[in-house]
Amino acid sequence: MCGIVGIVGDSSVAKRLIEGLRRLEYRGYDSAGIAVVQSDGALERCRAAGKISNLVQAHRTSGVDGQVGIAHTRWATHGEPTQRNAHPHAAGPVAIVHNGIIENFRELREELASENPDYQSDTDSELIAHLIHSGLKMGLPMSRAFPAALKRLKGTYAIAAISRDEPDQIWASRLGSPLVVGVGKGEGYVGSDAIALIGLSNRVVYLEDGDWVVVGREGFTIRDKNDQEVERPVQISSASTSFGEKGGYRHFMEKEIHEQPDSLARTLACYIDAGTGKFLTHAGIDWVAPRRLIMSACGTAYYAAQTAKYWFEKYARIPVEVDIASEFRYRDAVIGADDLAIFISQSGETADTLAALRHTRKQGASTVALVNVPESSLAREAEKVVRTEAGPEIGVASTKAFTSQLCALACMAVQAGCARGLIDAAQEAELASTLLELPRRVNDAIGAESQADRLAQAIAEARDVLYLGRGALFPIALEGALKLKEISYIHAEGYAAGELKHGPIALIEKGTPVIVIAPEDELFEKTISNMQEVLARGARVVLVADSAGAARSGIDASNVVEIPDCAPLIQPIIATIPMQMLAYFAALSKGTDVDQPRNLAKSVTVE
Ligand code: M6R
Repeated sequence: MCGIVGIVGDSSVAKRLIEGLRRLEYRGYDSAGIAVVQSDGALERCRAAGKISNLVQAHRTSGVDGQVGIAHTRWATHGEPTQRNAHPHAAGPVAIVHNGIIENFRELREELASENPDYQSDTDSELIAHLIHSGLKMGLPMSRAFPAALKRLKGTYAIAAISRDEPDQIWASRLGSPLVVGVGKGEGYVGSDAIALIGLSNRVVYLEDGDWVVVGREGFTIRDKNDQEVERPVQISSASTSFGEKGGYRHFMEKEIHEQPDSLARTLACYIDAGTGKFLTHAGIDWVAPRRLIMSACGTAYYAAQTAKYWFEKYARIPVEVDIASEFRYRDAVIGADDLAIFISQSGETADTLAALRHTRKQGASTVALVNVPESSLAREAEKVVRTEAGPEIGVASTKAFTSQLCALACMAVQAGCARGLIDAAQEAELASTLLELPRRVNDAIGAESQADRLAQAIAEARDVLYLGRGALFPIALEGALKLKEISYIHAEGYAAGELKHGPIALIEKGTPVIVIAPEDELFEKTISNMQEVLARGARVVLVADSAGAARSGIDASNVVEIPDCAPLIQPIIATIPMQMLAYFAALSKGTDVDQPRNLAKSVTVE
């Protein structure tokens, strides 16, 4: 999603701004630009549609530079991804960049109509520059015109602004969209996350909603929504310079698939004492009192929640409701003080998940955030925070974050079962040892890479692909289909294997690829019957199974991606690996942009 970098520098900033934008590429974007106050006092912009390489090209031609500037990667919401809609937007002496959505921009445009503003874009964001300019025209300094403009905005934003008339500062603010201030020596920075500031500063201050800040070379002043000066703690960012390196892999997604044994080992270390085989009581969550568990998330994180429903109901006997966050927040759901609600998010900044959390808190339920970014808004707003230890995930298609979420949720389900007296010490030790096998088994699953690569070639030629699974493997089928759609642009759907005959089987034509997830488990025979139903109608089956399942299926070994034998508890995590690899190799074969697929953003901070 959109990204922001701003520098009040003691030397040229243009190249450093573009470098910062490169670090934000992983968020997904479709145009980019910078604005600087030049040494001759002019406010100049350079913008380009498409990739940052286009901006670099445009910058080479324009040569704009200065010691103060702001930069932006835009993910289009209002207006096409063209150069004229790219940020920064300017009005009079002011340029701004904006992440989020200004909901009342039409009304505000009407209000400003008498001033005849010269709108040059179709965006909601440009209005912000005109609002500030309107205040300046009334004789206000930026320190008053900027907050005055903020008070008129409805919606969500992270904004950074510069003015050629007050050229040594950046004004910035956030409401519902993250923004950090970087502490420098003789310089000051702002960024939409700490990653934007790698190489500039690792000392960062996370602004709170409603805060606005004036950043100069010698420091910064933060004011809250009531314009009262406030202190926010300086934190040391864990974002490192190795962020953004592919380490010999072709894509971040490939690297991140291969990192899973490590990310799972790190996650397990938070939940299980490997020495004693005991599950660690985590974040002080009370698993006994809740009458019900609510889980809410978006996209892949939602599939993690759906999988976890099977685990919590099996191991802890807690009724579980799982909801898509964008639905949950608007549904008049019955939520009460005896509910425990878990919100799952890699980024911790997904607008719908954050809104669902806020909605749930208001209804009095206890809230837990399961996040990969501990400094995120979701982590800061939930009562309890538990972490996945996936490390930074750059590929837009989630891989290691998903398996870490699954791992953490499986551990939590067992913790809950122990706390509720349903799992005795011997069972606890056995479940711990099953989970502790995960890194090794996942590594073995990655070993089937060449099988996945070969079978993905047929998938790459297909128009439609179906994925089937049962029980806790049904959400993995959904995730497999999502992965394929996201990065290869092939239409794919996941179904509960038993549901196919109630409609979707009509989609099967001769040669339609159907990925069947069927390790040998208690539902094996049922799933294999469903597989026979699609085979009878001409489908081309790719079976994902352990050795016993593959042998019993009757499917030719050349159509199998084998996964290691393992206990049912960890099967969903292991079966995820072939889903990732099939999608990756199909996308590779199609030559799509694997790490930054079209139209997608890494973290979706708008509704
Ligand atoms: O950061 P979050 O986990 O909250 O993101 C939720 C979804 O946007 C995300 O999982 C999305 O579906 C991924 N691109 C899936 O690969």
